[in-house]
Amino acid sequence: MQAVFGTNWKMRNVDQRTAQQYLITLADGLGGLLDDGVQVCVLPPATLLPAMSEVARKTSIRLGAQNFHWEEEGEYTGELSTALLKDAGATILMVGHAERRVLFNENDEVINRKLLRALEEGFHAILCIGEADRLTPEAHLQEELSAQLVSGLRGVNKADLNRLIVAYEPHWAIGRRVDAAAPVTRVKQSVEAIRGALKTIVGAENSVRLIYGGNVNLSNCREIASVNGIDGLFVGGAAADPAGFVSVIGRALDGAPD
Ligand code: PGA
Repeated sequence: MQAVFGTNWKMRNVDQRTAQQYLITLADGLGGLLDDGVQVCVLPPATLLPAMSEVARKTSIRLGAQNFHWEEEGEYTGELSTALLKDAGATILMVGHAERRVLFNENDEVINRKLLRALEEGFHAILCIGEADRLTPEAHLQEELSAQLVSGLRGVNKADLNRLIVAYEPHWAIGRRVDAAAPVTRVKQSVEAIRGALKTIVGAENSVRLIYGGNVNLSNCREIASVNGIDGLFVGGAAADPAGFVSVIGRALDGAPD
């Protein structure tokens, strides 16, 4: 299974030159890892995509969008369609991020519609799932994660699953409002639950990649990435500068099983 690493810039105010320079430094820092098939994606604010795609197209780094509308086009003021994002240079789209679920009230039905649209339009897609509460007991954890997968993946064509990445991002472990990643024991429980649910929903031989996100940093990346069943990491704050992202990827791969 190919390792995959992503970073979500959220609503950080980055100018176009800095964004381009980020990609140049990232590609230089990763060097041979990109040639070896490690997949890396960057999800900036959508306005940066055209400038960044001038640089990204010379590399295998994928650019993506953090949000979009599920309809093809129309009277949806303020929204962006998949066609607009494709034209701007995005090849991967994210759905279900905790901040969209919690702050913008996106429910499982909306997330499912978006995922179907993204896959139908030929994009790669990241489906974020995760429990809301740190104290969720293990039995409920399985139920919650599996319910999010069942509704998120409703109607997805099995042939499209090789373009799908599931990101396990417990809501309580994301962002600067909290200061710690989920403990490895919790990551293990969740990965087992997610892999089990995927087996039931889409079959044993599924090609879905699974990554962890939520306060990943240089100190915890190796341990989390080496959890059985994890294919990579989704990094926010620790990838704000490209050298930091390169270090996290390098260290994570050091400890990950082949
Ligand atoms: P964080 O963000 O690494 O800053 O916690 C992760 C995410 O929101 O994907």
